[in-house]
Amino acid sequence: MLVFEKITDLRAQIREWRAEGQRVALVPTLGNLHGGHQSLMETARGICERVVVSIFVNPTQFGPDEDFQKYPGNSEVDVEKLLSTGVDAVFMPDADEMYPEGFSTSIDVGNIGKILCGQSRTGHFSGVATVVAKLFNIVMPDKAYFGQKDYQQSVIIRKLVRELNFDIEIISCPIIREPDGLAMSSRNAYLSEEERTAATVLSKMLKRGEELIKHHGVSDPVAVGKEMMKIIDSEPLATPDYIEIIDPDTLESVSTIESPVVLCIAARVGATRLIDNMVLGEG
Ligand code: PAJ
Repeated sequence: MLVFEKITDLRAQIREWRAEGQRVALVPTLGNLHGGHQSLMETARGICERVVVSIFVNPTQFGPDEDFQKYPGNSEVDVEKLLSTGVDAVFMPDADEMYPEGFSTSIDVGNIGKILCGQSRTGHFSGVATVVAKLFNIVMPDKAYFGQKDYQQSVIIRKLVRELNFDIEIISCPIIREPDGLAMSSRNAYLSEEERTAATVLSKMLKRGEELIKHHGVSDPVAVGKEMMKIIDSEPLATPDYIEIIDPDTLESVSTIESPVVLCIAARVGATRLIDNMVLGEG
């Protein structure tokens, strides 16, 4: 596996692969790799001849009161994991390589970045869109892989690709969970033992929502939301940020549940903010 820290070196390698007619996949990450990231890499490897993983804790997507400084991760451990996953290259730039002195350009994703997670994370999706656009321009992949775990992020990235005419296919991959239902996340590392147990409340809420909609035919999103809320209310270590039932494309709250919807949750477990979601009625 090749390790690149400089944009020009990575580009030179990618040019060689392209000249040989090989397809290139990109899997962007913040590092602290887990089974969710690994599933993206494995899916990519099954389709493209070359898989590039980026590990970059992108400062512009963290708010001033967020966990940028202490974001969990260890590049040596990550490189070890990548070796066993069998990717071709890892791109690990430092912040100056991505944002040289005086850097001031950013992408405004509009209102879709202000709802749901954007409400409490001002500027987050602008930071994500800007770094992802940079990574797309650096790697120029044929396909880029994102997880459904960050549902809003994947919709915003599809919109970015459409609206800024990137010639890249975006592939969304399903959420990978721990055996007890907790969606894998780098931030799960922050949870104490009690909080880790309490964190299963998110997937339990989604299961309850699914049961009401799929098996009991409940079509009123307010009624479903109330039942989901009861579950988190019974868990003293968890506090909801939002519970929304949304349209899969516009991300707007639905007034009645009739076509596909996404149940979306953000909650704090102790001090850790976690998100989870479930797509219903598709496929
Ligand atoms: P990060 O949180 O490291 O996630 C990298 C990719 O892994 C994202 O596409 C995310 O949706 C996916 N992922 C995370 N947990 C997952 C799980 N349990 N199952 C399936 N996929 C999962 O998302 C980011 O980084 C950043 O915002 C980034 C896109 C890299 C831009 O900086």
